[in-house]
Amino acid sequence: MGALSGQFAVVTGAGSGIGKAIAQALGSQGATVCLVGRTRQKLEATATTLAHSAPPAVVLPADLVSDEQMDALQEELQRRFGQVNVLVLCAGEIAHGSVESAPVETFDKLYQANVRGNFRLIQLLLPLLKKGRGHIVVINSSVGLSSRPNVGQFSATQHALKAVTDALRAEVNDHGIRVLSVHPGRVATPRMEAMYKKDGKEYKPEFLLQPEDLASVVVSVVILPRTAEVTDLSIRPALKSY
Ligand SMILES: NC(=O)c1ccc[n+]([C@@H]2O[C@H](COP(=O)([O-])OP(=O)(O)OC[C@H]3O[C@@H](n4cnc5c(N)ncnc54)[C@H](OP(=O)(O)O)[C@@H]3O)[C@@H](O)[C@H]2O)c1
Repeated sequence: MGALSGQFAVVTGAGSGIGKAIAQALGSQGATVCLVGRTRQKLEATATTLAHSAPPAVVLPADLVSDEQMDALQEELQRRFGQVNVLVLCAGEIAHGSVESAPVETFDKLYQANVRGNFRLIQLLLPLLKKGRGHIVVINSSVGLSSRPNVGQFSATQHALKAVTDALRAEVNDHGIRVLSVHPGRVATPRMEAMYKKDGKEYKPEFLLQPEDLASVVVSVVILPRTAEVTDLSIRPALKSY
């Protein structure tokens, strides 16, 4: 019996990277995990890794930027579970580029996924989270706290997501819902590897945070007694020189 036995968790971006590691960690604590992302095969691969250590995972492919698909996801979660105890928002888009040169269309795309998509999914799932006295975990970014060159568009969406997260916490705490905003530095995931390749830099994942590092800290917060709420969490690679 794990600390989350009998609980229902929903993890977006569960097909790879941080979301996959968090889904595995929640499952290993006994939660039934619903895996969300656009690519069914990636979600099924995550479900397979959970098969021996957790209750069977539920694979529900859906695109954060599609209102229809998010509505269908909400209906399916209502039908299958009737409540949500843990919601981890880990899906999103990234793009680099200077304010001078980055296409504004890219900004729109980042906003659609990272801000509007997450905002609407939270809205849709709040009734189920209220029933489950749930924990909402928003995987934000270190650049959701302070910006730097060439990440202005992404950083702006993450600052907006932080604003939504903070407002939400103040609105739902009285319903027994806790809200955590996580701000990681660089994590060794497929996304990070692709970014290093694109920039022509050698990729050394062993020098970065590991997805399991984040999963471990998220689970430790989620299983805290109800008397405690962690609101914001910054975590970065121990090695600064890489
Ligand atoms: N890696 C880092 O260094 C780092 C640092 C700080 C913050 N973060 C944040 O952590 C989160 C996860 O990043 P990661 O590095 O683990 O990236 P990743 O390996 O690329 O995982 C992101 C996942 O999100 C899914 N996804 C993307 N767009 C989606 C959409 N519109 N609807 C549904 N699912 C979608 C992707 O699967 P499909 O393509 O199949 O949909 C993918 O499995 C991101 O929000 C990122 O901003 C990452």
